[in-house]
Amino acid sequence: MAAYFIPLCIFIIALAALSYYASRQKKNRHEQEAALKLPPGSMGLPYIGETLQLYSQDPGVFFSSKQKRYGEIFKTHLLGCPCVMLASPEAARFVLVSRAHLFRPTYPRSKERLIGPSALFFHQGDYHLRLRRLVQGPLGPEALRRLVPDVEAAVRSALASWAADGDAASTFHAMKRLSFDVGIVTIFGGRLDERRKEELRRNYGVVEKGYNSFPNSFPGTLYYKAIQARRRLNGVLSDIVRERRARGEPGSDLLGCLMQSRDGDRDHGGDGALLTDEQVADNVIGVLFAAQDTTASVLTWIVKYLHDQPKLLEAVRAEHQAAIRESNDGGRRPLTWAQTRSMTLTHRVILESLRMASIISFTFREAVADVEYKGFLIPKGWKVMPLFRNIHHSPDYFQDPHKFDPSRFEVAPRPNTFTPFGSGVHACPGNELAKLEMLVLIHHLVTGYRWETVGLSDEVEYSPFPVPRHGLLAKLREDNSDGVNGKERQAVDNHDDCEVIA
Ligand code: HEM
Repeated sequence: MAAYFIPLCIFIIALAALSYYASRQKKNRHEQEAALKLPPGSMGLPYIGETLQLYSQDPGVFFSSKQKRYGEIFKTHLLGCPCVMLASPEAARFVLVSRAHLFRPTYPRSKERLIGPSALFFHQGDYHLRLRRLVQGPLGPEALRRLVPDVEAAVRSALASWAADGDAASTFHAMKRLSFDVGIVTIFGGRLDERRKEELRRNYGVVEKGYNSFPNSFPGTLYYKAIQARRRLNGVLSDIVRERRARGEPGSDLLGCLMQSRDGDRDHGGDGALLTDEQVADNVIGVLFAAQDTTASVLTWIVKYLHDQPKLLEAVRAEHQAAIRESNDGGRRPLTWAQTRSMTLTHRVILESLRMASIISFTFREAVADVEYKGFLIPKGWKVMPLFRNIHHSPDYFQDPHKFDPSRFEVAPRPNTFTPFGSGVHACPGNELAKLEMLVLIHHLVTGYRWETVGLSDEVEYSPFPVPRHGLLAKLREDNSDGVNGKERQAVDNHDDCEVIA
C-alpha cells in the first residue's frame, strides 16, 4: 500500500503546484494586459471619428501632424474603425514581417466584392501562399527577360499615341493605358485578340469608377454599374479559359499558371484540386488592379520630376544616348534585358521617385488578437496602419527628405526604411515588372521625345493614389534631332527576326 501511496502524494502535489503556477501565469498576463495602455491619440466624434479631418486635408499632413504630437505610434478613428498608426520602420516590420501572423489583411467588403473575394491579397495562410507562388513565376526574372520586347512595344505605342494627340493631354491617362497593356501581356501573353482586350478594357474601366465611388447598390449608381461590369468580366475570362482548355494549351503566362495549378500534393495536406474559374478570374482581376494605377501614378511622377529638373534630365538622357541608343543603331534595334540592367542613374531616379511620391502612403491590417507593442496595447479587431510615406519622408532616415535627390540611393537605405513595395508575406510580387516598365518608358521618353507640362502642376489630386493635378497635363512631341523618326523606331516592333541580345 505504502508503495503506491507515496508516489500518488508526490503526483498530486506536483499537479497542484503546476495548476497553481499556470493560474498565476494567466492572472499575471491578464494583469499585464489590463495594465497596458492604448497608444496616445484622439478618437474624434462618435462613429465618424476623425474621417472628416483626414479627407479635408492632405493625408500626409494629417498623419505627420499626429506623429509630431503623439510619436511613432498613435490611435485614431477612421471610416467607422478604431485604428493604430505606426510611423517607425521597426513598428512596420513588427506588423508586416516578424508578427505578421497576428495581423490579417483587411479591405472593405464593398471593394472585395468588386475585385473578387478570392484574390490573393485578401487572404492569409495556405491559400495565400499557393497563389503567391503562382503569381511569382510569371513575374520573376526569367519571365521578365522574355517580356522585354512586349514591354518595349507597349511603351512605343503609348508614347506614339500620346504625341499624336498634339494638344496637352493627361500624362496619367497615357500611363494608365501603358500599364494596362503591360498588365494584359503579363497575364495573357501575347495571345489576346484586340476584341477581347477592348472588352476587358471597357468593363474594367467601369469597375474602376465604381471602386472609387460610394458603395451604393441601387440601379444606376456607379457602384451598381461596376458590379454588373465585374460580372461581364467573369464572362469574358471564362470564355478565354474555356477556349484555352478546348485547345489543350493553357499557356505559360499568368493565366496559364493559374489554370494549371493543383492544390499541393496529397502528402502535404493538398487535395490536388484545380482552382475554380471564379478563383482564376478573381486573381486575374486582382493582379490587373494591383498593377495598373500604382505603376501609372509613379510613371506620372517620374515624368514630372524629370521635367522639373533639366540638369538631371540631361544626365539621364546622356546615360541612354551614349551607352544604349548608339549601340542600338539610333533606336532601330530593340532594347535588351542586359541594357535595362545597366541604367544606373535611371534606376536611382526610379527609387527616388518611389520614395518622394510614396503613392501607397500606408497599408491596412487588422489585429487578430490583443497584441502588445512597446508597452502599448493594440486591441483585437483594431485596424493597424504602417505609414510608409511618413517613414520615407522622415529626416531621421532620409536627409533633406523633401529634396529630389537620386544620389541618396548610391548608398543602400537603412533596413526597413524604404518599402514602396511593402514588406513581408504580402510584399509586392510585381515590383520588378513595375521597375522594368519604368526603365523602358524613361529610355524611350528621353531619347525620342521632348515634353512641356501645362498649367499648375504642384497641386496633387487622388485618383485614388496621389498624382499631380489633372494627371499632369503635358504636350509631348517627337524629337528627331538624331535623324531617326518614330516610324523607323516603331518598325523595330514588327521585326520578328530582330535579335534580342540577353
Ligand atoms: C509602382 C508600382 C507598384 C507599387 C508602388 C506597388 C506597391 C505594392 C504594395 C505596397 C503592396 C503590399 C500591400 C500590402 O502589404 O498591403 C503590393 C502588393 C501587391 N502588388 Fe504591387 N505595386 C506596384 C506594381 C505592381 C504590379 C506591376 C503588379 C503585378 C503585375 C503588382 C501586384 C501586386 C500583388 C498581386 C500584390 C498582393 C501581394 C500579396 O498580397 O501577397 N503590383 N504592391
